[in-house]
Amino acid sequence: MKLCKLGLIALLAAGIAVIPAGEGSAKNVYPKNVPAVTLNNGMQMPQLGFGTFTLKQDVAVESVKEALRQGYRLIDCAQGYGNEAEVGRAIKESGIPRSEIFVTTKINTNVMREGTVRQSLDESIEKLGGTYIDLVLIHWPVEGKVEETWKIMEEYVRAGKIKAIGVSNFNPHHIDDLLKYATIKPVVNQIEMHPYMTQYDVAAYTVKRGIRPEAWGPLGQGRLGVVDDAVLRSLGEKYGKSPAQIVVRWHLQRKNIVIPRSQNPAHIAENINVFDFKLSGKDMKTIDALNKNQRANPKNDPDNFPW
Ligand SMILES: NC(=O)c1ccc[n+]([C@@H]2O[C@H](COP(=O)([O-])OP(=O)(O)OC[C@H]3O[C@@H](n4cnc5c(N)ncnc54)[C@H](OP(=O)(O)O)[C@@H]3O)[C@@H](O)[C@H]2O)c1
Repeated sequence: MKLCKLGLIALLAAGIAVIPAGEGSAKNVYPKNVPAVTLNNGMQMPQLGFGTFTLKQDVAVESVKEALRQGYRLIDCAQGYGNEAEVGRAIKESGIPRSEIFVTTKINTNVMREGTVRQSLDESIEKLGGTYIDLVLIHWPVEGKVEETWKIMEEYVRAGKIKAIGVSNFNPHHIDDLLKYATIKPVVNQIEMHPYMTQYDVAAYTVKRGIRPEAWGPLGQGRLGVVDDAVLRSLGEKYGKSPAQIVVRWHLQRKNIVIPRSQNPAHIAENINVFDFKLSGKDMKTIDALNKNQRANPKNDPDNFPW
């Protein structure tokens, strides 16, 4: 469905969920033909970005700079990764205007429990080197702490310090609870999704609520052998692509926002060079069928996590 700008504004004002068709529906406004997706607040976000979990110190700076050189314009970090300052430094040293980069960070669970959300957000803004952050997520749905955290996040949006807010690791019941009091709707729900953990039910529920699903651990975190899967290897041979490229492409065609991480320049390049082929419907279904509901780490359960 094509929406003119005025029509889109009218629908947003009426609180009606607008999930554009996703990949292929938006103008290719980012390098390497990365499509823009339109969020429920009207903002645009690259559909493919770069993850930074476990990337520390110089490795974080160099990997993010390499990603930016390769054309990535969405960088995903978190207070808990301990690398916001490095991400901020990489952005500054890249020479790319801050306004052309979409930065996501996440509020850590200990910050929510200790009641230091405001202080942590001020520090994140400072470390990320700007006066604002594009997107801030609640990293995990800490029981009893989501509402007060969300209200502070809304306050930061109203103050212009955060442009968009969202959630991560939210199951449908967490989303429903939040929507009871939220005056600003989450724009994304970032959840574990890969061919062995497709989470179609949670993703579909997220879409139904007008919220974009975003895939973390899109390659199985390098723990499950996803990129060595025989089916994905044979599809790679068929399309002349690596298994990782097949998986990234599968995410894009499923309309997920996707943020693979790598510290290997060849992999960083591979993972963004996925816009010159398309998986057939049959091959999409073949990948869908690999699902085993297998988390990269069994502790990553939104209803029972130990951190
Ligand atoms: N919201 C949350 O709770 C949450 C949780 C986890 C992650 N995240 C976010 O999601 C991002 C992505 O998830 P992730 O980092 O956990 O895992 P991932 O992106 O699924 O997997 C990363 C692993 O895949 C390997 N890899 C990357 N590209 C490859 C390629 N082309 N061929 C072969 N191997 C490849 C990497 O190794 P090399 O470095 O050697 O390439 C690394 O071992 C994170 O970085 C983080 O930003 C969010």
